[in-house]
Amino acid sequence: EAAEKGGYPHFMLKEIYEQPTAITNTVSPRIINGAPDFGIKALTDEILKSFKRIWIVACGTAMHAGMVGKSVIEQLARVPVEVDIASEFRYRKPILNPDDDLVIIISQSGETADTLAALRLAKEQGVHTLAVVNVVGSSIAREANSVIYTWAGPEIAVASTKAYTVQLSVMYLFAIKMASVKGLIDEKETAKLCDDLLALPAKIEEVLQNADNCKFVASKFQNAHDIFFIGRGLDYSLSLEGSLKLKEISYIHSDAYAAGELKHGTISLITTDMPVVAIATQSHLFEKMISNIKEVRTRGAKVLLICKKGTERQADLSEYVIEIPDYNEYFSPILTAVPLQMFAYYTSVLRGCDVDKPRNLAKSVTVE
Ligand code: G6P
Repeated sequence: EAAEKGGYPHFMLKEIYEQPTAITNTVSPRIINGAPDFGIKALTDEILKSFKRIWIVACGTAMHAGMVGKSVIEQLARVPVEVDIASEFRYRKPILNPDDDLVIIISQSGETADTLAALRLAKEQGVHTLAVVNVVGSSIAREANSVIYTWAGPEIAVASTKAYTVQLSVMYLFAIKMASVKGLIDEKETAKLCDDLLALPAKIEEVLQNADNCKFVASKFQNAHDIFFIGRGLDYSLSLEGSLKLKEISYIHSDAYAAGELKHGTISLITTDMPVVAIATQSHLFEKMISNIKEVRTRGAKVLLICKKGTERQADLSEYVIEIPDYNEYFSPILTAVPLQMFAYYTSVLRGCDVDKPRNLAKSVTVE
């Protein structure tokens, strides 16, 4: 096993460091002449253009990738997207329309029972199903009408890291593709977005060089009983994933809230014993986030701020800061995911938990 870990103490850390390669392997073969090309015969540009609504159905971390997918597809391709938890979707008689709808199923393993059932339900209703899957030949990959493989390689640690960021990169490719076939972005804009996506792995390398800071911050939060994550827009989706990562491997209770919801209840829980991780990478929402951070600071919360390098702010806005590179904000989820993973990882290590095999959790949930 030590050999398989390639010198890393845990699979999770190894997989965190494999992300630049995993993203390059997933993205670069799909960009041809400056535009996304999935090489899927059943999904011609004409067919892609005809979809009026997209559903993204998945479980756990894959569902969180779907939430980012919703934001980026809607922003760029202007197609309404619904994200659903597979175990909810399959039992709530969703109103699907075979003429207009596309169902995207996201799964690392391709074997999750609820996700597979959701795929079958959509297929039975005659809707085109597109699977985004990491394991070649898995049930979901075999049964879906079309497949886009993520090329993360085997993911061993129960907490998903590289599988998540490659799922995000496919969501971006898909959004760019849809926007381009619909004529919403021209060739130049398409090529620019593809270039930015291709350059992300180098930016992730920069984030990985910040591991010591993530470890330091983890040492300051390791004794917390509860932690709140807050964010807006894309950063809210990242808050959910950061919170899941932390709680599943460190056993610290954590919750994620859309920052604007704080005053609708959550803020009553904020005390000096409730540290807050505030994610604020989106300039158009930054002022709003500052107000929310001030609200929790006033109530004594210790704050870790995750923002872009060079973000102008008052020095006392937060006790701790993790900066991500100043890059095209549209892609910030892929960069923000990495320090959140490292924060969860080091917190778990410092608390002496079994990082790669957290109690009661399975890598793949093949029964309901
Ligand atoms: C389990 C794993 C998670 C994963 C989820 C969905 O809960 O522990 O890491 O996100 O299943 O798995 P899938 O293989 O469908 O992506």
